[in-house]
Amino acid sequence: MAAKRLPSTGSVAETPKGALHRPTGIHHNFEVAGMVDSTSGLVDRAIFTDEGLYQQELRRVFAPSWLFLGHVDQLKKTGDFFTTFMGEDPIIVSKGKDGEIRAFLNSCRHRGARVCRADYGTTKNFTCTYHGWTYDLEGKLSNVPNVAGYDENFDTADWGLVEVAQIDNYKGLIFATWNPSAPELPDALGGAKYYMDAFLDKDPEGTVVVGGIMKWELDGNWKLAAEQFATDWYHVNMSHASALMVLSPTGKGPKSEIANTPGRQFHDEQGGHGAGFPTHPKSRFDAQKVHEHYDYGFLRERLGDATVEGPMTTGHGTIFPNFSYLPINGSIRIWHPKGPNKMEVWAWTILDKSMSPEVREAQRLYNLRTFGPSGIFESDDGENWSEVQSISNGFVTNSVALNLQMGIGSEREDGVYPGTTSELYSDAAGRNFYRKWAQLMDTPAWHEEPNE
Ligand code: FES
Ligand SMILES: [Fe+2]
Repeated sequence: MAAKRLPSTGSVAETPKGALHRPTGIHHNFEVAGMVDSTSGLVDRAIFTDEGLYQQELRRVFAPSWLFLGHVDQLKKTGDFFTTFMGEDPIIVSKGKDGEIRAFLNSCRHRGARVCRADYGTTKNFTCTYHGWTYDLEGKLSNVPNVAGYDENFDTADWGLVEVAQIDNYKGLIFATWNPSAPELPDALGGAKYYMDAFLDKDPEGTVVVGGIMKWELDGNWKLAAEQFATDWYHVNMSHASALMVLSPTGKGPKSEIANTPGRQFHDEQGGHGAGFPTHPKSRFDAQKVHEHYDYGFLRERLGDATVEGPMTTGHGTIFPNFSYLPINGSIRIWHPKGPNKMEVWAWTILDKSMSPEVREAQRLYNLRTFGPSGIFESDDGENWSEVQSISNGFVTNSVALNLQMGIGSEREDGVYPGTTSELYSDAAGRNFYRKWAQLMDTPAWHEEPNE
């Protein structure tokens, strides 16, 4: 399953603002169809290690997709901002004087330094610390020191920060894309919206962020984490055995109980998203205080029995490509790519707005203990991804395909849960994740000329 180099397709067709026309051949694109066999469930390990494929991912997977930026609660008033990344591109998200949320490339139009180096804050404008160009909250270039040094053709209106093509939020979660022809956000989320509602729509008042954003680095390709959150309940009994024992009321561990739990898995064929969850009458393994806070009768009425007994339980999900969530913890996270061998994890705790401060604190601490950077579950997961990555660069190791064959043929509509579903223990959403990934990798993005 060797990667195939195609004729170069690097010329810029419809560029982001400020891009120049690049010569054909500057980017090399590889055909990856043979590296991901979603029918037989095989994946070539080079997709986690190859630098060329990684650069192509930035162009063809991250640049055209809707990517998660943050929560609207992080921008309460005019001048509030935070910084993040879309792929490896640094981004400022700010609230303008008109109340609009905008997202810009955090790179000065002069010589390219970041114009904001803070993680978050409140400001009137963004001043580059290199030569002092200043941009307002709407991204316009508002001041240039020694502007008289430029000729009469220089117009500050031409030199504002580069803005994303589309930005929107789904029930408080802000996403953006560089792709002007991407489908609108609700369409891009597709069937995943029903599953996201299990943690975004419990409360008519919506959700808020509690605590800060936890950020940590992991040695591992971003897809290892995104894939697992889309599809992998299989690892829970083995990888998290000790954590499950700690949480067990009897001290003996709920292993057999978990192993025999019925459940479902979902995937969205169009978008590449996936989710999985045990099915049982009540949420479990959340903090007792949070459990007691919920009026399950109200939730059943609001979201339906199937949601309360399925996606609202101890589930997991990924919105393609790199946003994942755990409904029961209120944990949302993004796997920022940092080269083929490294990722940066950013994790938030989001909770229902109407929760009392005591319940919020109980949930925050619960999330910290379980899925914080040193949480009893999180550290198990990170260890697995780093373990897999650490040996992946061996030549022979790298040549041996990985197996995602569980549940082949089980994909179906089940009449209860929307979209394509499979069993709780299944690789169906994983196969779909890589199918979507390969499809994007083999399709020229909006900024490219068509393949020659
Ligand atoms: S690089 Fe920003 S002002 Fe020169
Ligand atoms: Fe896990």
